[in-house]
Amino acid sequence: MKNIYSNIFKVNNRNISKAINCLKKKGLIGIPTETVYGLAGNAYSSKAIRKIYYLKKRPFRNPLIIHYYNLEQLKKDAVLNNNFFELYKKFSPGPITFVLRRKKKSQLSNIATAKLKTVAVRFPKNITIRKILKSLDFPLAIPSANKSTHISPVSADDVNQEFKNSLKIIIDGGSCKIGLESTVVDLTSSPKILRPGSIGPEAISRALKKKITINHNSRVVKAPGMLKRHYSPGIPLKLNQKKAKDSEAFIVFGKKYKKGKNIFNLSYKSNVNEAAKNLYKILRLIKNKKYKTICVCSIPKIGIGLAINDRLNRAAK
Ligand code: TXA
Ligand code: MG
Repeated sequence: MKNIYSNIFKVNNRNISKAINCLKKKGLIGIPTETVYGLAGNAYSSKAIRKIYYLKKRPFRNPLIIHYYNLEQLKKDAVLNNNFFELYKKFSPGPITFVLRRKKKSQLSNIATAKLKTVAVRFPKNITIRKILKSLDFPLAIPSANKSTHISPVSADDVNQEFKNSLKIIIDGGSCKIGLESTVVDLTSSPKILRPGSIGPEAISRALKKKITINHNSRVVKAPGMLKRHYSPGIPLKLNQKKAKDSEAFIVFGKKYKKGKNIFNLSYKSNVNEAAKNLYKILRLIKNKKYKTICVCSIPKIGIGLAINDRLNRAAK
Protein backbone atom coordinates (compact mmCIF):
# COMPACT_ATOMS: atom_id res chain seq x y z
CA MET A 1 0.00 0.00 0.00
CA LYS A 2 1.18 3.49 -0.85
CA ASN A 3 0.56 6.44 1.43
CA ILE A 4 -0.35 9.98 0.31
CA TYR A 5 2.82 10.36 -1.75
CA SER A 6 2.70 7.89 -4.63
CA ASN A 7 6.40 7.04 -4.29
CA ILE A 8 6.58 6.43 -0.51
CA PHE A 9 6.03 2.82 0.58
CA LYS A 10 5.75 1.49 4.12
CA VAL A 11 7.93 -1.41 5.26
CA ASN A 12 6.30 -4.76 4.46
CA ASN A 13 7.36 -7.88 2.55
CA ARG A 14 5.59 -6.87 -0.62
CA ASN A 15 7.22 -3.44 -0.75
CA ILE A 16 10.63 -4.83 0.16
CA SER A 17 10.35 -7.27 -2.78
CA LYS A 18 9.43 -4.35 -5.02
CA ALA A 19 12.55 -2.47 -3.85
CA ILE A 20 14.74 -5.55 -4.40
CA ASN A 21 13.40 -6.05 -7.95
CA CYS A 22 14.05 -2.41 -8.75
CA LEU A 23 17.69 -2.72 -7.54
CA LYS A 24 18.17 -5.94 -9.57
CA LYS A 25 17.04 -4.02 -12.66
CA LYS A 26 19.68 -1.34 -11.97
CA GLY A 27 17.12 1.11 -10.65
CA LEU A 28 17.48 3.33 -7.57
CA ILE A 29 15.54 3.40 -4.31
CA GLY A 30 15.35 5.69 -1.28
CA ILE A 31 16.08 3.69 1.85
CA PRO A 32 16.33 4.26 5.61
CA THR A 33 19.55 3.60 7.50
CA GLU A 34 20.26 4.22 11.19
CA THR A 35 22.22 7.38 10.27
CA VAL A 36 20.38 9.18 7.44
CA TYR A 37 18.25 8.09 4.45
CA GLY A 38 20.23 6.87 1.47
CA LEU A 39 19.87 6.66 -2.30
CA ALA A 40 20.78 3.07 -3.16
CA GLY A 41 21.95 1.43 -6.38
CA ASN A 42 23.88 -1.69 -7.51
CA ALA A 43 27.56 -0.97 -6.76
CA TYR A 44 28.68 -3.39 -9.50
CA SER A 45 26.70 -1.60 -12.21
CA SER A 46 28.08 1.60 -13.72
CA LYS A 47 24.65 2.17 -15.24
CA ALA A 48 23.04 2.29 -11.78
CA ILE A 49 25.90 4.36 -10.35
CA ARG A 50 25.65 6.99 -13.10
CA LYS A 51 21.97 7.41 -12.19
CA ILE A 52 22.98 8.18 -8.58
CA TYR A 53 25.44 10.89 -9.64
CA TYR A 54 22.95 12.48 -12.07
CA LEU A 55 20.06 12.45 -9.63
CA LYS A 56 22.16 13.92 -6.81
CA LYS A 57 24.03 16.29 -9.16
CA ARG A 58 27.11 14.97 -7.40
CA PRO A 59 30.57 15.65 -8.85
CA PHE A 60 32.08 12.43 -10.21
CA ARG A 61 35.26 13.01 -8.20
CA ASN A 62 33.34 12.40 -4.94
CA PRO A 63 33.27 8.62 -4.29
CA LEU A 64 30.35 6.71 -2.74
CA ILE A 65 30.20 4.48 0.34
CA ILE A 66 29.61 0.82 -0.54
CA HIS A 67 27.23 -0.99 1.82
CA TYR A 68 27.62 -4.71 2.56
CA TYR A 69 25.68 -7.42 4.36
CA ASN A 70 28.71 -9.37 5.62
CA LEU A 71 32.47 -9.91 5.47
CA GLU A 72 32.21 -12.68 2.86
CA GLN A 73 30.81 -10.15 0.40
CA LEU A 74 33.36 -7.48 1.32
CA LYS A 75 36.40 -9.75 0.88
CA LYS A 76 35.84 -9.78 -2.88
CA ASP A 77 36.26 -6.02 -3.13
CA ALA A 78 38.64 -4.75 -0.42
CA VAL A 79 41.91 -5.63 1.29
CA LEU A 80 41.21 -6.17 4.99
CA ASN A 81 43.74 -5.42 7.75
CA ASN A 82 44.04 -5.80 11.53
CA ASN A 83 42.79 -2.32 12.38
CA PHE A 84 39.76 -3.05 10.25
CA PHE A 85 39.04 -6.35 12.05
CA GLU A 86 39.29 -4.68 15.47
CA LEU A 87 36.84 -1.92 14.55
CA TYR A 88 34.52 -4.24 12.62
CA LYS A 89 34.30 -6.58 15.61
CA LYS A 90 33.42 -3.72 17.93
CA PHE A 91 31.18 -1.45 15.84
CA SER A 92 29.69 -3.28 12.83
CA PRO A 93 26.96 -3.44 11.80
CA GLY A 94 26.64 0.21 12.77
CA PRO A 95 27.31 3.86 11.95
CA ILE A 96 30.97 3.56 10.93
CA THR A 97 32.57 3.61 7.45
CA PHE A 98 36.02 2.19 6.76
CA VAL A 99 38.30 3.39 3.96
CA LEU A 100 40.31 0.39 2.71
CA ARG A 101 42.44 -0.53 -0.31
CA ARG A 102 40.33 -1.66 -3.22
CA LYS A 103 41.14 -5.11 -4.64
CA LYS A 104 42.37 -5.12 -8.25
CA LYS A 105 39.89 -7.85 -9.15
CA SER A 106 36.93 -6.14 -7.53
CA GLN A 107 33.79 -5.87 -9.67
CA LEU A 108 32.89 -2.49 -8.15
CA SER A 109 32.01 0.20 -10.65
CA ASN A 110 35.02 2.49 -11.10
CA ILE A 111 32.65 5.42 -11.13
CA ALA A 112 31.36 4.53 -7.64
CA THR A 113 34.88 4.72 -6.24
CA ALA A 114 35.85 7.78 -8.35
CA LYS A 115 38.68 5.74 -9.94
CA LEU A 116 40.53 5.67 -6.60
CA LYS A 117 42.64 2.76 -5.38
CA THR A 118 40.63 2.86 -2.14
CA VAL A 119 37.02 2.13 -1.26
CA ALA A 120 34.80 3.32 1.62
CA VAL A 121 32.69 0.48 3.07
CA ARG A 122 29.96 0.22 5.67
CA PHE A 123 27.70 -2.40 7.25
CA PRO A 124 24.48 -0.60 8.13
CA LYS A 125 22.48 -1.74 11.14
CA ASN A 126 18.93 -0.78 10.14
CA ILE A 127 16.95 -4.03 9.77
CA THR A 128 15.15 -3.09 6.55
CA ILE A 129 18.33 -2.31 4.67
CA ARG A 130 19.97 -5.44 6.08
CA LYS A 131 17.05 -7.50 4.80
CA ILE A 132 17.50 -6.00 1.34
CA LEU A 133 21.30 -6.42 1.33
CA LYS A 134 20.96 -10.05 2.40
CA SER A 135 18.81 -10.94 -0.58
CA LEU A 136 21.12 -9.39 -3.20
CA ASP A 137 24.27 -10.85 -4.74
CA PHE A 138 25.83 -7.40 -5.10
CA PRO A 139 26.62 -4.63 -2.59
CA LEU A 140 24.86 -1.26 -2.68
CA ALA A 141 26.40 2.16 -3.23
CA ILE A 142 24.43 4.44 -0.91
CA PRO A 143 25.13 8.14 -0.56
CA SER A 144 22.79 10.26 1.53
CA ALA A 145 19.53 10.82 -0.38
CA ASN A 146 19.86 14.55 -0.93
CA LYS A 147 20.98 16.76 -3.81
CA SER A 148 24.71 17.49 -3.56
CA THR A 149 25.50 20.13 -0.83
CA HIS A 150 21.92 20.03 0.57
CA ILE A 151 20.97 18.85 4.09
CA SER A 152 20.82 15.05 4.48
CA PRO A 153 17.32 13.53 4.79
CA VAL A 154 16.19 11.88 8.03
CA SER A 155 12.68 10.83 6.95
CA ALA A 156 10.97 9.46 3.83
CA ASP A 157 9.25 12.83 3.32
CA ASP A 158 12.64 14.57 3.32
CA VAL A 159 13.79 12.23 0.52
CA ASN A 160 10.63 12.99 -1.41
CA GLN A 161 11.30 16.73 -1.01
CA GLU A 162 14.74 16.25 -2.55
CA PHE A 163 13.87 14.13 -5.59
CA LYS A 164 10.07 14.30 -6.04
CA ASN A 165 8.87 12.05 -8.85
CA SER A 166 12.31 11.31 -10.25
CA LEU A 167 12.64 8.66 -7.52
CA LYS A 168 9.90 6.04 -7.83
CA ILE A 169 10.46 4.01 -4.66
CA ILE A 170 11.18 5.39 -1.19
CA ILE A 171 10.89 2.90 1.66
CA ASP A 172 9.48 4.59 4.77
CA GLY A 173 11.28 3.27 7.83
CA GLY A 174 10.30 6.19 10.08
CA SER A 175 12.80 8.78 11.29
CA CYS A 176 16.48 7.84 11.50
CA LYS A 177 17.73 6.75 14.93
CA ILE A 178 20.98 8.73 14.86
CA GLY A 179 20.28 11.52 12.37
CA LEU A 180 23.90 12.28 11.36
CA GLU A 181 26.06 10.48 8.79
CA SER A 182 28.44 7.68 9.81
CA THR A 183 31.94 8.26 11.18
CA VAL A 184 34.44 7.80 8.29
CA VAL A 185 37.77 6.24 9.31
CA ASP A 186 40.70 5.91 6.90
CA LEU A 187 42.48 2.60 7.60
CA THR A 188 44.77 2.56 4.55
CA SER A 189 47.69 3.82 6.70
CA SER A 190 47.77 4.99 10.33
CA PRO A 191 44.08 5.34 11.27
CA LYS A 192 42.51 8.77 10.80
CA ILE A 193 38.99 10.08 11.24
CA LEU A 194 37.96 11.78 8.00
CA ARG A 195 34.40 12.61 9.07
CA PRO A 196 33.26 12.68 12.72
CA GLY A 197 30.07 10.81 13.62
CA SER A 198 28.31 9.15 16.54
CA ILE A 199 31.21 6.76 17.13
CA GLY A 200 33.79 9.18 18.48
CA PRO A 201 37.61 9.28 18.53
CA GLU A 202 37.83 8.02 22.14
CA ALA A 203 35.84 4.85 21.41
CA ILE A 204 37.87 4.19 18.26
CA SER A 205 41.18 4.78 20.06
CA ARG A 206 40.10 2.39 22.81
CA ALA A 207 39.18 -0.35 20.33
CA LEU A 208 42.46 0.04 18.43
CA LYS A 209 44.53 0.54 21.58
CA LYS A 210 46.24 3.50 19.90
CA LYS A 211 45.67 7.19 19.41
CA ILE A 212 43.66 8.15 16.38
CA THR A 213 44.09 11.45 14.57
CA ILE A 214 41.26 13.62 13.26
CA ASN A 215 41.88 15.08 9.83
CA HIS A 216 40.82 18.68 10.33
CA ASN A 217 42.05 20.34 7.19
CA SER A 218 44.35 18.10 5.26
CA ARG A 219 45.46 19.49 1.91
CA VAL A 220 44.61 16.21 0.23
CA VAL A 221 40.85 16.16 0.56
CA LYS A 222 40.22 12.54 1.38
CA ALA A 223 36.53 12.87 2.09
CA PRO A 224 34.82 15.55 0.00
CA GLY A 225 32.16 15.48 2.72
CA MET A 226 34.85 17.52 4.45
CA LEU A 227 34.73 20.15 1.73
CA LYS A 228 33.80 23.71 2.66
CA ARG A 229 30.13 24.11 1.76
CA HIS A 230 28.37 20.89 2.57
CA TYR A 231 25.28 19.97 4.55
CA SER A 232 24.10 23.44 3.64
CA PRO A 233 20.64 24.82 4.33
CA GLY A 234 21.40 27.49 1.69
CA ILE A 235 20.80 30.25 4.26
CA PRO A 236 23.51 32.28 6.11
CA LEU A 237 24.21 30.58 9.41
CA LYS A 238 25.92 32.27 12.40
CA LEU A 239 27.59 30.09 15.02
CA ASN A 240 28.03 30.53 18.79
CA GLN A 241 25.28 33.14 19.13
CA LYS A 242 23.83 34.18 22.50
CA LYS A 243 20.66 35.72 21.03
CA ALA A 244 18.83 36.28 17.76
CA LYS A 245 16.43 38.83 16.28
CA ASP A 246 12.74 37.83 15.99
CA SER A 247 13.16 37.70 12.22
CA GLU A 248 16.00 35.17 12.52
CA ALA A 249 15.68 31.46 13.25
CA PHE A 250 17.48 30.65 16.52
CA ILE A 251 18.70 27.08 17.09
CA VAL A 252 19.28 26.48 20.80
CA PHE A 253 20.26 23.67 23.17
CA GLY A 254 19.01 23.16 26.74
CA LYS A 255 16.18 24.53 28.85
CA LYS A 256 17.72 27.90 29.70
CA TYR A 257 16.39 29.30 26.39
CA LYS A 258 12.86 30.67 26.35
CA LYS A 259 10.27 29.30 23.92
CA GLY A 260 9.20 31.32 20.89
CA LYS A 261 8.03 31.14 17.31
CA ASN A 262 11.56 31.52 15.96
CA ILE A 263 13.26 29.38 18.63
CA PHE A 264 14.11 25.79 17.68
CA ASN A 265 15.41 23.67 20.55
CA LEU A 266 17.67 20.74 19.60
CA SER A 267 17.23 19.23 23.07
CA TYR A 268 15.54 20.71 26.16
CA LYS A 269 17.22 17.97 28.19
CA SER A 270 20.67 19.07 26.96
CA ASN A 271 21.19 15.62 25.46
CA VAL A 272 23.65 15.65 22.54
CA ASN A 273 22.24 12.43 21.02
CA GLU A 274 18.76 13.93 20.91
CA ALA A 275 20.26 17.11 19.43
CA ALA A 276 21.97 15.10 16.67
CA LYS A 277 18.70 13.38 15.84
CA ASN A 278 16.92 16.74 15.57
CA LEU A 279 19.60 18.77 13.78
CA TYR A 280 18.80 18.06 10.11
CA LYS A 281 15.06 17.95 10.79
CA ILE A 282 15.21 21.43 12.30
CA LEU A 283 17.52 22.85 9.60
CA ARG A 284 15.09 21.59 6.92
CA LEU A 285 12.09 22.99 8.81
CA ILE A 286 13.76 26.41 9.10
CA LYS A 287 14.55 26.39 5.39
CA ASN A 288 10.95 25.48 4.55
CA LYS A 289 9.72 28.31 6.77
CA LYS A 290 11.80 30.62 4.56
CA TYR A 291 13.90 32.28 7.26
CA LYS A 292 16.70 34.42 5.81
CA THR A 293 19.24 33.92 8.62
CA ILE A 294 19.96 31.16 11.13
CA CYS A 295 21.70 31.77 14.46
CA VAL A 296 22.95 28.81 16.51
CA CYS A 297 24.01 28.83 20.16
CA SER A 298 27.20 27.00 21.13
CA ILE A 299 26.77 23.21 21.32
CA PRO A 300 29.00 21.19 23.70
CA LYS A 301 31.76 19.29 21.88
CA ILE A 302 31.21 16.10 23.85
CA GLY A 303 30.29 12.73 22.30
CA ILE A 304 28.32 13.20 19.10
CA GLY A 305 28.48 16.96 19.85
CA LEU A 306 31.80 16.89 17.98
CA ALA A 307 29.99 15.71 14.83
CA ILE A 308 27.19 18.27 15.34
CA ASN A 309 29.79 21.06 15.49
CA ASP A 310 31.53 19.64 12.41
CA ARG A 311 28.30 19.75 10.36
CA LEU A 312 27.35 23.22 11.65
CA ASN A 313 30.80 24.58 10.79
CA ARG A 314 30.46 23.30 7.25
CA ALA A 315 26.91 24.58 6.93
CA ALA A 316 28.15 28.02 8.05
CA LYS A 317 30.86 28.28 5.37
O1 TXA B 1 25.85 7.39 7.20
C1 TXA B 1 26.28 7.37 6.06
O2 TXA B 1 27.48 7.15 5.80
C2 TXA B 1 25.28 7.63 4.90
C3 TXA B 1 24.27 6.48 4.87
C4 TXA B 1 23.29 6.59 3.72
O3 TXA B 1 24.94 5.25 4.85
N1 TXA B 1 25.97 7.78 3.67
C5 TXA B 1 26.69 8.90 3.38
O4 TXA B 1 27.19 8.91 2.08
O5 TXA B 1 26.86 9.81 4.15
P1 TXA B 1 27.72 10.24 1.37
O6 TXA B 1 27.97 9.85 -0.04
O7 TXA B 1 26.74 11.32 1.61
O8 TXA B 1 29.07 10.52 2.07
C6 TXA B 1 30.17 9.65 1.81
C7 TXA B 1 31.44 10.25 2.29
C8 TXA B 1 31.85 11.40 1.42
O9 TXA B 1 32.37 12.41 2.24
C9 TXA B 1 32.92 10.77 0.55
O10 TXA B 1 33.82 11.70 0.08
C10 TXA B 1 33.56 9.78 1.50
O11 TXA B 1 32.48 9.26 2.21
N2 TXA B 1 34.28 8.72 0.77
C11 TXA B 1 33.79 7.80 -0.07
N3 TXA B 1 34.77 7.02 -0.58
C12 TXA B 1 35.92 7.47 -0.04
C13 TXA B 1 37.29 7.08 -0.15
N4 TXA B 1 37.67 6.08 -0.94
N5 TXA B 1 38.20 7.76 0.55
C14 TXA B 1 37.82 8.76 1.38
N6 TXA B 1 36.55 9.19 1.53
C15 TXA B 1 35.61 8.55 0.84
MG1 MG C 1 26.02 13.17 1.87
